[in-house]
Amino acid sequence: MLLVDSVCKSYVFGEAPVLDGVSLRLEAGTLAALVGPSGSGKSTLLNLIGLLDEADSGQILVDDRLVSALNTTDAARLRNELIGFVFQSFHLLSRLTAWENVALPLFHRGVGRAERKARALNMLERVGLSDRVDHRPEQMSGGQRQRVAIARALVGEPRLILADEPTGNLDSVTGLQVMDLLRALNGDLGVTILMVTHDRDMAKLCDRVIEIRDGRVLPLGEAG
Ligand SMILES: Nc1ncnc2c1ncn2[C@@H]1O[C@H](COP(=O)(O)OP(=O)(O)OP(=O)(O)O)[C@@H](O)[C@H]1O
Ligand SMILES: [Mg+2]
Repeated sequence: MLLVDSVCKSYVFGEAPVLDGVSLRLEAGTLAALVGPSGSGKSTLLNLIGLLDEADSGQILVDDRLVSALNTTDAARLRNELIGFVFQSFHLLSRLTAWENVALPLFHRGVGRAERKARALNMLERVGLSDRVDHRPEQMSGGQRQRVAIARALVGEPRLILADEPTGNLDSVTGLQVMDLLRALNGDLGVTILMVTHDRDMAKLCDRVIEIRDGRVLPLGEAG
């Protein structure tokens, strides 16, 4: 489902590479935590998998499709189709309501307004926000904003969700609620989730823990 093979990435010529031959494999439907020290390349790896940046070498396949070595137009289309993103700081558009934010990926696909709205409302119901669909982000709590962002990531029925510290800006109780939601959606929809976290308790709730250190994935993570 997700295959990363010998991926290398440097930002600065002459410095040690950030990713130095990273390989990992995630089966469909897995909820995996990506852990490692600050600066170890977790966000870099997510950006490469999510087609937001290009690897120097190596291959990445999402859903049996080779996503490395695509031109930018193909990358944008495939990203919209296959992948949903959740970020630490939510990345919602402040002038749009909750449902309009959720509907954005469908807008970019050319889905008509009525269908966009229906699907967005359905997804907001799934994340428990039926009573907040017309609120703008500033009118919502952090946990609610993150649930809007999760609904937006899922509305296009992606094969893979990439989440970079989705609970990083939330207090521990709200963070656990968001984690429970991701776990439930993973179970109900069978969507594969790769989630960066610094929190050992969050990592324990995942099927697998992948640990990255010194530019490589630790063998234990690969096996476990
Ligand atoms: N655009 C960039 N240009 C130059 N260096 C970068 C760039 N992005 C990241 N880096 C460097 O690459 C390394 C890995 O960064 P990355 O953000 O992937 O780490 P991380 O594991 O996500 O860390 P954190 O846990 O703090 O979020 C760091 O040393 C960082 O300074
Ligand atoms: Mg990071």
